[in-house]
Amino acid sequence: MKLTLGAKLFLSYLAVLLVGVVVLAAAAQVSLPGAYGRHMGQMMEMMGQGAGRGPGSGALDAEFSNFRAGFFEALAWAALAALSVALVVSLFISRSLSAPIRAMTRASRRVAEGHYSERVPAGGRDELGQLAGSFNTMAEKLEQVETMRRRLIGDVAHELRTPLTAIKGSMEGLVDGILPATPDTFEQVAAEAERLNHLVDDLQELSRVESGAFTLDLGPVSLPELAETARKRLAAPYAAKGVSLTLDLPAALLPLRADTDRLLQVLTNLLNNALQYTPAGGSVTLSAEVRGREMLVRVSDTGIGIPPEHLPRIFDRFYRVDKSRSRQTGGGSGVGLTICKYLVEAHGGRIWAESPGEGQGSAFFFTIPLA
Ligand SMILES: Nc1ncnc2c1ncn2[C@@H]1O[C@H](COP(=O)(O)OP(=O)(O)O)[C@@H](O)[C@H]1O
Ligand SMILES: [Mg+2]
Repeated sequence: MKLTLGAKLFLSYLAVLLVGVVVLAAAAQVSLPGAYGRHMGQMMEMMGQGAGRGPGSGALDAEFSNFRAGFFEALAWAALAALSVALVVSLFISRSLSAPIRAMTRASRRVAEGHYSERVPAGGRDELGQLAGSFNTMAEKLEQVETMRRRLIGDVAHELRTPLTAIKGSMEGLVDGILPATPDTFEQVAAEAERLNHLVDDLQELSRVESGAFTLDLGPVSLPELAETARKRLAAPYAAKGVSLTLDLPAALLPLRADTDRLLQVLTNLLNNALQYTPAGGSVTLSAEVRGREMLVRVSDTGIGIPPEHLPRIFDRFYRVDKSRSRQTGGGSGVGLTICKYLVEAHGGRIWAESPGEGQGSAFFFTIPLA
């Protein structure tokens, strides 16, 4: 037989009640003769009649059974009254206990159907109140994830549209004969296609790091060696733009506990950004120092800087301070720093940026635990 929680509670109250009534009756039955004898004996003594005539002598026996009948009749009525009041009360209590659970069941069904704004009233500090509280937290998290997913799709669509529109425009111009079929035109189309390619690569990398679908191959890593590799990699573009790159690392640095490839990815990303946002003639410096049980790495540049209101958001995905400038300077899609953040945090470190303001350069900091 399937019973609701409310019914089970009600039945259990009922059982407790019935047991109480039965025990009451049985206890009265057992203790009544003794109690009667004592009290009647006292009364007789007070009335001056001969002592020693307890229950057992004829007249008193009849008196006792009359009293007993009266007593149990009163007891039966009292039990009936108590039972009916208790029935109403237990019905009310079992209802009020099962109501919040029913509300949560309803709410979780709504959430499962995709209505993430559903919440349950979370009053009380007992277990039910806690359950309601954690249900609401869960619904809130789901709602956030859903919002993020929607925004991500919107952002991706937007990012894809710009190069696609350019490619489509160029192709239509070519077909209509408005654009000359020169290598220049084709190069432009190829550049937009390359941008799309880049974006797709970025997205793939972003989804990998965001889902945590990558494993860190942690081991002792020498920062000076890694920085040297990054410098060699970026020497050509730095020279081409006329920006100097300086490594300012102490000779004897403790090794880091890191994944070489991933850490190199972070460094290259930051150094690439520094190059991208620093005009010709500027300089970029990579420095590091040990802070407690961590290494603090710093990439600073003399570039365009970051206005303070943008600082907290540049690690958000697709966030760019100046979208049009970023496109002109051949910037990426605004996920580079997001990827850096995930990678650094996966190492157990933190990453942040500082900048005195526009045109005054910026500095990016991150920490990595020591080996
Ligand atoms: N060194 C820097 N100097 C000034 N602004 C920077 C620097 N690095 C990053 N930014 C700002 O942060 C934004 C996000 O950087 P990132 O995630 O690498 O995206 P992007 O693909 O635009 O390089 C950039 O668009 C830029 O506005
Ligand atoms: Mg970048």
